[in-house]
Amino acid sequence: MDRVVLKVKNLTKKFNERVAVNNLTLEIHEGEIFGFLGPNGAGKTTAIRMITGLAKMDSGDVFICGKSISKDYEKAIVNVGGIIENPEMYKNFSGLDNLKYYASLYDNISKERIKDIVALVGLSDRIKDKVKTYSLGMKQRLGIAQALLHYPKLLILDEPTNGLDPEGIIDLRRFLKKISQKNKMAILISSHNLNEMELLCDTIGIINHGKLEGIKTLDQLKSYNENGQIILKVNFPNYAGKLISKKYSTDKISIYKNTLTVELDKNVIPELTTYLITNGISIYSISSQSRTLEDVFLDTVNQRALPVPKGVNNV
Ligand SMILES: Nc1ncnc2c1ncn2[C@@H]1O[C@H](COP(=O)(O)OP(=O)(O)OP(=O)(O)O)[C@@H](O)[C@H]1O
Ligand SMILES: [Mg+2]
Repeated sequence: MDRVVLKVKNLTKKFNERVAVNNLTLEIHEGEIFGFLGPNGAGKTTAIRMITGLAKMDSGDVFICGKSISKDYEKAIVNVGGIIENPEMYKNFSGLDNLKYYASLYDNISKERIKDIVALVGLSDRIKDKVKTYSLGMKQRLGIAQALLHYPKLLILDEPTNGLDPEGIIDLRRFLKKISQKNKMAILISSHNLNEMELLCDTIGIINHGKLEGIKTLDQLKSYNENGQIILKVNFPNYAGKLISKKYSTDKISIYKNTLTVELDKNVIPELTTYLITNGISIYSISSQSRTLEDVFLDTVNQRALPVPKGVNNV
């Protein structure tokens, strides 16, 4: 098992009476890309600010490479690089001068190291230009270069794709995957964009109203995908619904006119059709529909049942 790089334990923060982060517990291992996924106001930035010591926690603690951020700040924070708020850049200086300045805040960051990082983020051509001439994506890359200068074990990026064009997003994704694999770096990245997270992360933690609603590996999310909906047109939908409900112990059934929708793995279709037919149901059509990751996300966030169209009676 890979080493735990970040351990968050029962982290809580309130603003007056509003709980922004509620008893958050999670672990991220080396080489893992962990996506913090949640809607606006879910508590992602607040959690990240506490993880990096930028905001005070009310209770709980954060350990980075085993060091507590609240009790052993200096030793914990040396292992972290991040872009949490807009990184402060000196706009009238070149990208390179900015990086040299940041490098001077640490011991032992060589010129070669800076050169390597610049190449890694794909800024070699423009690094001697002033930052004020950079595009947004180039500034993001420079921010990441800065975050990586001191060989952090944990990279934290709060919504890094905001404002990037599709190509910039693809580049960033490739780059993050590369550095996490090459350097066994753990990455915590927040976003409200599910599709982006799906393509990038190994693990996704869904956060809503400050609470972690579930941690899922990409494989688990994909298997959720298979557990889609089966849509049947039958002669006696209510009776068919009762039969299905009994056989598969599910209440995730909705009925509209003679169409019955049930949330089941599509692999049961052959068995299901035989079962219904032998119980006297005529099937006019049957089809299956995969649930998208968005459905999984919305279900987790809203504890949503199957969407029920207007005028439908639940069985
Ligand atoms: N300084 C503050 N004072 C009062 N309330 C705050 C403060 N910072 C955040 N909050 C509240 O805490 C909750 C979580 O906010 P946070 O910024 O962490 O959400 P987020 O998940 O990062 O959202 P977004 O996707 O919009 O960036 C919100 O209800 C927000 O209004
Ligand atoms: Mg935020």
